[in-house]
Amino acid sequence: MSNIDELKATDTRLIKAGKKALVRTYGCQANFRDSEHLKGILTSLGYTLCEDLKEADLILLNTCAIRENASQRVFGEIGLLKSYKKQKPDLILGLCGCMAQQKETIAYIKESYPYLDLVFGTHNLYRLPALLAAVEKQRQTVIEVLPKSDGLHENLPEVRDLPHKAWVNIMVGCDKFCTYCVVPYTRGRQQSRPMAEVLLEVENLVKQGYKEITLLGQNVNAYGKDLGLESGFYQLLEACSNTGIKRLRFTTSHPWDFEKKLGDLIAFKENLMPFIHLPVQAGNDEVLKRMGRRYSRESYLKLFDYLRSTIPGVAISTDIIVGFPGESREQFEDTLSLYEYCKFDHAFTFVYSPRANTPATKFEDPVAEIDKKAWLAELNLLVKKYSLARNQSMVDKEYEVLVDGPSKKNPEVYSGYTKDNRLVNFNGADLKTGDLVMVKIQQARSFSLNGTKSQNQPIEKDKAGAL
Ligand code: SAH
Ligand code: SF4
Ligand code: F3S
Repeated sequence: MSNIDELKATDTRLIKAGKKALVRTYGCQANFRDSEHLKGILTSLGYTLCEDLKEADLILLNTCAIRENASQRVFGEIGLLKSYKKQKPDLILGLCGCMAQQKETIAYIKESYPYLDLVFGTHNLYRLPALLAAVEKQRQTVIEVLPKSDGLHENLPEVRDLPHKAWVNIMVGCDKFCTYCVVPYTRGRQQSRPMAEVLLEVENLVKQGYKEITLLGQNVNAYGKDLGLESGFYQLLEACSNTGIKRLRFTTSHPWDFEKKLGDLIAFKENLMPFIHLPVQAGNDEVLKRMGRRYSRESYLKLFDYLRSTIPGVAISTDIIVGFPGESREQFEDTLSLYEYCKFDHAFTFVYSPRANTPATKFEDPVAEIDKKAWLAELNLLVKKYSLARNQSMVDKEYEVLVDGPSKKNPEVYSGYTKDNRLVNFNGADLKTGDLVMVKIQQARSFSLNGTKSQNQPIEKDKAGAL
């Protein structure tokens, strides 16, 4: 059955008109994109979307399982929602996303939160209409989790969160099986969308007036390998860039699959933004090997240097895990020295969190959690130092900013991002979401910039959008 047939086949009379639904999203961009589809399906069933828990007749938590604290937040939330359920017995409470794909979580949910009405996983969100119909009929928890994907589902309804910036999946799942990571288990093996489908979506977004598109995948550089394509991501990026979209980004890049010529393409094409998120995870070869990352410190640095020297004004950010099982103080210091060398523009840093069924949980882990936290704090000082240094280098210059909108507190203060993905808060007047303006930077903070809109017009030719 196609997705549309599936929707039509649902006995939607069971879903009463005028009901309100709230979708709460945790985790990465892939989940946010899934939530846009969940919202699309819900509105096509007649639900109105809302933000207030008290108003909602249906609350759906789209969850993340990447680290223990992500899961704990969700369990806390389900606990809080029990009181809402008491006050409004018809309230439907659902949980979906990556946590639902874990057997251990399902067992725990059944035991601890029997008042949940619906649980479904990442592979069957297109089944939401039928699952809701089942909830209406059956007064016990409806659980449907597929152990693996039954194929890609194109053309699902959607409600996009923003009118000017869009996320486009180019693939789902991941084949890398890094030894600490839950994603290949919660999202399944890599499946690339056909290039023609991705292009059609991008072209439609351009027609609708979108200014920025981010191509999404757990490892975008491996795009097309499962379709037998060679340099698939290069081809796709070039084709998407030719659609005329103003700003094109992608995430996430795995260094192992990153072809150098991609750097050349980014340098050459005006609408490919000079920003690359290139997770390194660790600076020591032995640790990288046990993480299953497939690259060495040296090969990472070679790629890093190539990108820095090829793409004018490029910003490079990274992800780092501190305290991987068995990591010694000396090995952690290799991460610090790599950071000092790269002077990353930004980084997301995490203490290692054991995830059920991943190989790393079996590795010996003698370092105490409290020491790992101290290492993380030490690393975060570097993150702050180099992010601030980059921001300070931008003061008194002008940069192109894509306007996200006015601040909630003050309609004359707007925010937006530069081409190299720096957050800017700036004074301006009468601007619209989606406007491209030049902003003079006046003050650097650690993780954002303050400025004022200038009268100058953006210069497309400059890679970093600077004047
Ligand atoms: N596909 C992306 C990352 C997805 S998860 C990539 O390969 O880079 C985002 C980040 O979470 C990872 O880069 C890693 O730094 C972190 N992460 C993943 N599993 C983790 C774990 N078990 N403990 C701590 N951090 C983890
Ligand atoms: Fe996880 Fe590694 Fe895949 Fe990234 S590449 S999603 S860290 S398994
Ligand atoms: Fe989390 Fe799943 Fe994304 S585990 S990081 S929401 S793929």
